[in-house]
Amino acid sequence: MNIRAVQNGFVGEVTGIDICKQLTSDEVAAIERGMDQYAVLTFPDQPLTDEQQVTFTANFGALEITLAGQMAKPEERRFQQLELGDISNFNGADTTRLRARDDKRRMYALANRLWHSDASFRAIGAGYTLLHARIVPSRGADTQFADMRAAYDALSPSEKAEVEDLICEHSIVFSREQIGFGDYNPGHEEHLKPVPHRLVLTHPKTGRKSLYLSSHIGGIVGWPVPEARAFIRDLTEHATQPQFVYSHKWRVGDMVIWDNRTVLHRATRFRDLEEVRDLRRTSIKGVGLEVKQAMAAE
Ligand code: OGA
Ligand code: MN
Repeated sequence: MNIRAVQNGFVGEVTGIDICKQLTSDEVAAIERGMDQYAVLTFPDQPLTDEQQVTFTANFGALEITLAGQMAKPEERRFQQLELGDISNFNGADTTRLRARDDKRRMYALANRLWHSDASFRAIGAGYTLLHARIVPSRGADTQFADMRAAYDALSPSEKAEVEDLICEHSIVFSREQIGFGDYNPGHEEHLKPVPHRLVLTHPKTGRKSLYLSSHIGGIVGWPVPEARAFIRDLTEHATQPQFVYSHKWRVGDMVIWDNRTVLHRATRFRDLEEVRDLRRTSIKGVGLEVKQAMAAE
């Protein structure tokens, strides 16, 4: 297995490994070390099936079910296996039709265009997310990543001191509010409540600090809401400057893994009413967030 640095020691391209096959524990450990070093790894030309993606993901931890999957009505779902996220613009199981412009699932998913960290609205957010490309449109739809370790490092000493002990409140409602979406299926009120997370995370293995930002943030404990939102907006602007960002141009067969504890990401636009984009997504729980979580709750 070989990792070639693509950008700033932030993104690595992995070759010389077949992730469709069962991995050895050495291979799993090598990928985890790569993730600790880079935070985003790309694996070109990996023709994984759904089953192989689930098996590959399970090497790194317990698979999660996305909130969108959890809240969707059964007839709206494309896959029966809820661990498999449908990141496509197909009309559910009907792959002869694309989602309509005013389709609720489309509007909900449009919030992926805001810089976010997956599932940060949960008490324990996502660790790795794995996204695999099956069909890509002719243009657009890059996924962008921003290095929250580099963004933290670039703060001045006084800014670092200011953010060190801040606790942010995250909820899916806050990110959807930003794009004017509020049409949730009833019965999920529990999932919409804000959860606290530290703004500064310390990586459990490398000890590096990073900013745990997300479009899901709607407040800072002890701060007036407008002040918190203005502050988070400024900090996100700082953290997503071009020098911290990598744009992934998808090719069919690409697998990309990112660590939600150390990177922000967002989707970008494409002509989704005319062209197909079909990716499969799996994610694992963020080990290491619990410790910080317990501290945040004290
Ligand atoms: C996601 C996500 C971005 C994209 O699947 O969590 O943010 O480009 N996807 O589809
Ligand atoms: Mn995401």
